[in-house]
Amino acid sequence: MKSLRNRLVLLLIVAIVTVVGLATLAAGLVLQPPLPQATMEPVARQLHVLADLAQRNRPEATTAGVTLQAEPAGGPEIAIMSRFLTEAMASTGPARVAIVTEAAGTSVILASVELGPDDWVVAQIPDLRPPPGRWWALAGWIVLIVLGSTAISIFYASKIIRPLQLLEDAIGRIGPDGMLPKIPETGSGEVRATAQALNTLSSRLKSAVDSRMRLVAAAGHDLRTPMTRMRLRAEFLPQEAEREKWFADLEELDAIADSAIRLVREEVGSDNREPVRLGQLIDEIVAELVPLGYKVTPPSPVSLPVSAGPLALKRALRNLIINAATHGGGATIELSRAGGDAVVTIRDRGPGIPPDLIANVFEPFFRVDAARRKTMPGAGLGLAIAKEIVERFGGSITIVNADEPKGLVQTVRLPLAAGEENP
Ligand SMILES: Nc1ncnc2c1ncn2[C@@H]1O[C@H](COP(=O)(O)OP(=O)(O)OP(=O)(O)O)[C@@H](O)[C@H]1O
Ligand SMILES: [Mg+2]
Repeated sequence: MKSLRNRLVLLLIVAIVTVVGLATLAAGLVLQPPLPQATMEPVARQLHVLADLAQRNRPEATTAGVTLQAEPAGGPEIAIMSRFLTEAMASTGPARVAIVTEAAGTSVILASVELGPDDWVVAQIPDLRPPPGRWWALAGWIVLIVLGSTAISIFYASKIIRPLQLLEDAIGRIGPDGMLPKIPETGSGEVRATAQALNTLSSRLKSAVDSRMRLVAAAGHDLRTPMTRMRLRAEFLPQEAEREKWFADLEELDAIADSAIRLVREEVGSDNREPVRLGQLIDEIVAELVPLGYKVTPPSPVSLPVSAGPLALKRALRNLIINAATHGGGATIELSRAGGDAVVTIRDRGPGIPPDLIANVFEPFFRVDAARRKTMPGAGLGLAIAKEIVERFGGSITIVNADEPKGLVQTVRLPLAAGEENP
């Protein structure tokens, strides 16, 4: 009941039912049927005329068609009508006992008026009772109103809520890169306006991000020239130890500038795809990293052919494996199939990433702790680059903290090459 749509539905139902209920009540009060006493009196007067005639001149009354008999008419008595008729007789003439009955097997109502002992006038009178089943009719009327108003309310509430729902859907589909997918600009005026506003926002965001990326690339590129000059100057430093430190720093700066340029290149680049054997690719990465001192446990061999650019994919996986080996103290790689996907899982037993920061890991230049920079060089671009590449080949990366044993679990899913989905 918390959603706006449900509240609107409820509001509309309550409003409609209340208005119709009040209108019915008012109509019921205004259109009241006349009181039974009021309708009974004319009947009682006519019965008095018949009774008077019968008492005055019996043969004439019989010839005129008045029914005279020794007992009241048979059939079940309608007690309430008997009471009203007897009261009406008393108020319109001499008090005479009247019995109202329903002739058996018919809906004819007969009134029997007592003239004396064993002497009754019997005449047909109109049925003044309320029609049968009126409570059912009222219940049906209420059910009809509630059902009708529910259907109308749901329909209109959904229509009213549509722009908001569009907004909610759009926000739900915001990718990890913060980009909104394009929303179709169709439907009613408000829906179109909402979709247009969202699309404009999305394209402005995209151009802002693009220009930021260009800035990153330009900065990376422009750093190269002063760095070359510094390297030249460092060559002339007299002390060997000092010179080595300068070179190490310059190398790190170079790597950062290089990553920045590469990230932009990955964002706009489109490698040619070719069949890649994931297991083999990972073996190559492991063979490259182990001699450099990274602690990496390779996966057991599984045949997982995917379609991707081998160099780019290698760079992406290398970034993840290096992260696990450096930030996590050692990488353990597993390969598996899940549905139509190849899955690479890279685990480590390091500190993981604080839960409040884990949503930002793919942002360029994100680093958990800038202070760690001294011990662990890096630009904070490795994951941004990896994500860019994997998504370009139709895959996805997820990064979660593991509790038992503690560490980080990085999972890459890539669609298996066509025709390889079933082992
Ligand atoms: N396996 C991990 N365990 C703990 N923290 C990690 C792990 N992987 C990444 N991180 C954190 O996420 C940050 C971003 O990682 P990313 O790979 O993007 O950059 P980096 O490793 O710092 O630099 P580089 O650009 O050289 O890769 C890291 O600085 C680190 O703080
Ligand atoms: Mg890294």
